[in-house]
Amino acid sequence: MSNIHMAGPSITKVEEEIVLDALRNGWYGKSAYQYVELFEKVFAEYHGRKFALMTPNCTTAIHLLLAGLGVEEGDEVIAPDCTWIGSVAGITYQRAKTVFADIDPEHWCLTPKSIENAITPNTKVVIVVNLYGNMPDWDGINEVCNRRGIAIIEDAAEALGSSYKGVLAGGFGVGSVFSFHRTKTITTGEGGMLLLDDEALFSRCKFLRDHGREPGTYFNTEVTFKYMPFNIQAALGYAQFLRIEELVSKKRSILNGFKKRLSGIPDLLLNPEPDGIVNGAWAPALVFGRSHGMTTAKALIELSKLGVPSRPFFYPLSSLPAFPGRMTEGRQRNPVAYDVAGRGINLPCALNLTGMDLDKISNGIHRMLGY
Ligand SMILES: Cc1ncc(COP(=O)(O)O)c(C=O)c1O
Repeated sequence: MSNIHMAGPSITKVEEEIVLDALRNGWYGKSAYQYVELFEKVFAEYHGRKFALMTPNCTTAIHLLLAGLGVEEGDEVIAPDCTWIGSVAGITYQRAKTVFADIDPEHWCLTPKSIENAITPNTKVVIVVNLYGNMPDWDGINEVCNRRGIAIIEDAAEALGSSYKGVLAGGFGVGSVFSFHRTKTITTGEGGMLLLDDEALFSRCKFLRDHGREPGTYFNTEVTFKYMPFNIQAALGYAQFLRIEELVSKKRSILNGFKKRLSGIPDLLLNPEPDGIVNGAWAPALVFGRSHGMTTAKALIELSKLGVPSRPFFYPLSSLPAFPGRMTEGRQRNPVAYDVAGRGINLPCALNLTGMDLDKISNGIHRMLGY
């Protein structure tokens, strides 16, 4: 058994002390949500946004925003075919239709053209995902969506610390979301954050987050959701946030460590970082060029034999049983998504990886590809 983990956090005395404070003191009066409010405030400020709402996870943050934007049955929401299902689950919760659009072969995100191709008169929202910390052509996407009057949700779950032309991930679209899942750069075990600038939309989402009640009352005017965070969870998030630069920098050193070690093998693509883009490097994804004749399925088996853990690139969602009847259309419209997903894997990204772990993983890849 390999002792290399795919993913996991870095927890120090900073977290221990702040969480212990919440555990000991965060129950009465104003203290009960003290860390929730503090974490929301600093996280919004850091990303240049006016408002933040912490949620139980990122999936619920997206759902909250879709509901806040009034997405309902009959509406269509465009999303990339390759992403985690949490990006799109909220669309189904709202009984709207997910329209899967193709990804770019280099950065694996939506493109202005793939969005245009998927727009219909029913399109209400586009969910743009900064996949693996990569950034899409945000200027082009903003242009298309502004021209067509379509709201953008930025799914920055994997993009903490990424930036596009100096703007941090979390600063695009009508609202942005982050995940603090156990596997993410900053973790609260389970957790999410919704960032917004529009005050009316913020108030609506806040109302929807807590059973549709007037603040501080037992007077409910709608049946909505219970997507409240709790203080100990937020205390952990706040403590991790205090270490954001250190944690992003460790993630970047893992990605760059792989890039360096694998640089002798031609025709490989790891999370790209073209001019003007910084990659927060949540997880390194490796796409094998066609010359290697390597498939995702084969790589997972071969690497596992060498004691190297890996995971598949995100499957095209339209190919999964969760979306029955969508594969034929998906394959036709989104050839890049099907192609890239068939020859890509995720490499380990745990924050406890050592240089020796990177050596072992990279040596395994060399051996598998015959280099
Ligand atoms: C791109 C993307 N969106 C959404 C989510 C959902 O996040 P959560 O697990 O916090 O609900 C994830 C989680 O891994 C993700 O990677």
